[in-house]
Amino acid sequence: MTAIIDTDPGIDDAIAILYALRQPDLGIAAMTTVAGNIGLSVTTANALRLAALAGAPTPVHPGAAAPLGREPRPETGIHGNDGLGGVVLADPDRSAEAESAVDCLARRLTEAPENSVDLFCLAPLTNIANLLTSAPAAAARIRRVIAMGGAVEEPGNMGRAEFNLAHDPEAAAIVLHAGLDLTLIPLDATRQFRADAAYLDRLRACGTLAASTCADLIDAYFVQTAHQAKGAESRPLHDPCVPLFARHPELFRIETRNLQVDHDGALVPGPHPIRVAMGVEADALRARLAEGLGG
Ligand code: RIB
Ligand code: CA
Repeated sequence: MTAIIDTDPGIDDAIAILYALRQPDLGIAAMTTVAGNIGLSVTTANALRLAALAGAPTPVHPGAAAPLGREPRPETGIHGNDGLGGVVLADPDRSAEAESAVDCLARRLTEAPENSVDLFCLAPLTNIANLLTSAPAAAARIRRVIAMGGAVEEPGNMGRAEFNLAHDPEAAAIVLHAGLDLTLIPLDATRQFRADAAYLDRLRACGTLAASTCADLIDAYFVQTAHQAKGAESRPLHDPCVPLFARHPELFRIETRNLQVDHDGALVPGPHPIRVAMGVEADALRARLAEGLGG
């Protein structure tokens, strides 16, 4: 299998990336970056830092700096101005590629055997929508898409909608209505997957830089304000669900719902049958995440 990660790191993206880059069976061939949690220059620099930390020669291709026809709405309140919650990573050991995200996606899909490349989407879907519209023949060669996004029965985290779809509703509609082999992992599943202080100790006991870095990242991902004491559990580990689903689909409860994306990015009843994860086996997922980080 070969996969390309599209990402806006972002604390939970970072955990997903550090896990995925350690799994040879996922065959992560490249990362493409996009504006989302934070601006494109920061998401790209963070992806490069994460590849360097993982000791992986994974090329990073910058993509869209803004949603289709809208202004970016970064989420610095959760991820901080550095996109990593203040967790300092070593500087990258190389620069981003000159080839754009869409050109990278189109080239790799064209070069690889048909139906051999997966897309792991951890961010607003601007790059993927641009691929579908500018290189449809290449896009037709995608094997499957696993995307974190949406809220089916759960309340949204951006009004009625979920951040990845709400940040670029036009892109989300293009991608989710395209008839791709797509599995969506919405808030209905990801909100069941969190970490507590004991789990951070477990990660630190793994003895790997990837695991201890993820412990530091998750530690920065708990709700804590001047007025609100630190929570017992972290915010949901949204994006790690994507590579974990790729390797352990049996830990996710999948349903097919007939949906569409509305103008705000909310998932509403519609004509498009979409596979959605509606539940997870959280204890087993935490165990698989720790194992994959070296535990
Ligand atoms: O709603 C959660 C999603 O939005 C995650 O991908 C998180 O990184 C943010 O991008
Ligand atoms: Ca993300």
